Amino acid sequence: MSSKRCDQTVAWAALQGHWQAHGRDLDLRDLFAQDPRRFERWALSAPEMLVDMSRVRWDVATGQHLIALARECGLEALRDAMLAGEHINHTEDRAVLHTALRAPKGQGPQSYAVHAVLDQMLAYVEQVRATAGGLQPGEIHDVVNIGIGGSDLGPQMVLPALDAWVHPKLRFHFVSNVDGHDLAPVLRRIDPKHTLFIVASKTFTTQETMANAHAARQWFFDQGGTDVARHFVATTTNVEASKAFGIKTTFGFWDWVGGRFSMWSSIGLPIALALGAEHFRALLAGAHAMDRHFAEAPLESNVPVWLGLMDLWNRNFHGFGSRCIAPYHQGLVRFPAYLQQLVMESNGKRVDAEGHPLPYQTSSVVWGEPGTNGQHAFFQMLHQGTDVVPVEFILAKRPSHRDASTWSPALRAQMDEQHRMLLANGLAQARALMVGKTTQEAAAESAPTASQTLSPAVLARHRTFPGNRPSITLLLDQLNPASLGALVALYEHRTFVSGALWGINSFDQWGVELGKAMCKDLLPRLATGDVSGLDAATAALIERLA
Ligand code: F6P
Repeated sequence: MSSKRCDQTVAWAALQGHWQAHGRDLDLRDLFAQDPRRFERWALSAPEMLVDMSRVRWDVATGQHLIALARECGLEALRDAMLAGEHINHTEDRAVLHTALRAPKGQGPQSYAVHAVLDQMLAYVEQVRATAGGLQPGEIHDVVNIGIGGSDLGPQMVLPALDAWVHPKLRFHFVSNVDGHDLAPVLRRIDPKHTLFIVASKTFTTQETMANAHAARQWFFDQGGTDVARHFVATTTNVEASKAFGIKTTFGFWDWVGGRFSMWSSIGLPIALALGAEHFRALLAGAHAMDRHFAEAPLESNVPVWLGLMDLWNRNFHGFGSRCIAPYHQGLVRFPAYLQQLVMESNGKRVDAEGHPLPYQTSSVVWGEPGTNGQHAFFQMLHQGTDVVPVEFILAKRPSHRDASTWSPALRAQMDEQHRMLLANGLAQARALMVGKTTQEAAAESAPTASQTLSPAVLARHRTFPGNRPSITLLLDQLNPASLGALVALYEHRTFVSGALWGINSFDQWGVELGKAMCKDLLPRLATGDVSGLDAATAALIERLA
């Protein structure tokens, strides 16, 4: 497998020439005017969705240079190496095989091991669900997932997204922060006789998770609980440590599953408990369909490849430093947070494979909030701020309301109308960002709330929108287990693509280590007040806190 860093290719030089010649001046309004087929050209189908990239500030020539870049970087070989289980996470000497977790039985690497755990976990899930909400001790009403980062964000993101499929008799709680203010309110709401605690940690050593697990077990004993084996289960690669904690039921996984790619493994236990085996398998199948698209579609029609190329174009040529995730589906409320870990922990790196500093920018900042709420908060900046922030709109044609079948016709009609309002808002924002409003147009309009004393010309300048602000739109038929699986896998592969082109290792996370080590050093100092050897700021703050 031979791969090249993006800036060491002929295609990169060509791309720079293209940028200088006219790439930087591309205006979306002109591009649409010049090419009546622009939407058809740039709206590509992938499993479960249509991805409209027509409002990216690129043209056909940009696309040709980018595809040439992907080829010259050896992207296809790198992808194939990942899918085959080669140790592409070279700084940890590990394979990267989250795709194996969603492959059908008998297909691809590690199939036997994956399906053995999956079958075992789903059998357990069905057993818990069968008596959920029952009154006998041990019958579960509340599930508390104790985990952080990749051992928290996936399940926490999926449950509201798939609310309509969640078992009606089960309530789910997520405790991640070492701050006791996270755990305490959950403990107040649960009954030890009817609670299942899941201790979710790949390593079973993470400070926050172990602290919360110990606190939860202490609370369980304090409440008269005795049967730890029944009320605590673990999802981890460190079975020995979970045993030592007193846990008898452990669902394992493997070092080749990165934390931020682990919701498909036993870390997905809360998801499986919520949805049941059938829908958990549908989630996996949706992701697998995207895996196949990524593995098999030619680069020219490969959607994760295009999105990864877009990330490079937006970051290294346009210089956009952040991107905004705007799901027009309230169920995706935690999707931006989920993507923050996926993208920034993967690609927030500054050296290449050999450890040499990179001469270009890598991961942008990922942030966001569901629409329409974001419109009443930060969209002002997106439309008129000095920074250009590409926006990623996610729309679902059909809603997935949990109780729709119990609604009166009048309520259903109202909710259908609200769904149309939601879609109209999403479409309007993307259109407004692109089209903008000239000062002349602003001057010609009436503005009822505008000052009566300020000159119309000044007011018109305040009410001008530059436009030409880029976005993409991901269109789903409905947010359901299969489409959510495909959506998450799409973002995983896209992150891999941009990381591969940048020549970084997207699968390690050394950047979290320094703070962890310093915390270990500072913790006892908060008790003793010892500030020897510390920098002046930390020392002064410890003196006030100890
Ligand atoms: O934030 C660092 C990290 O290692 C993540 O990559 C991981 O998802 C998280 O901590 C939790 O780790 P663990 O599952 O081992 O508790």
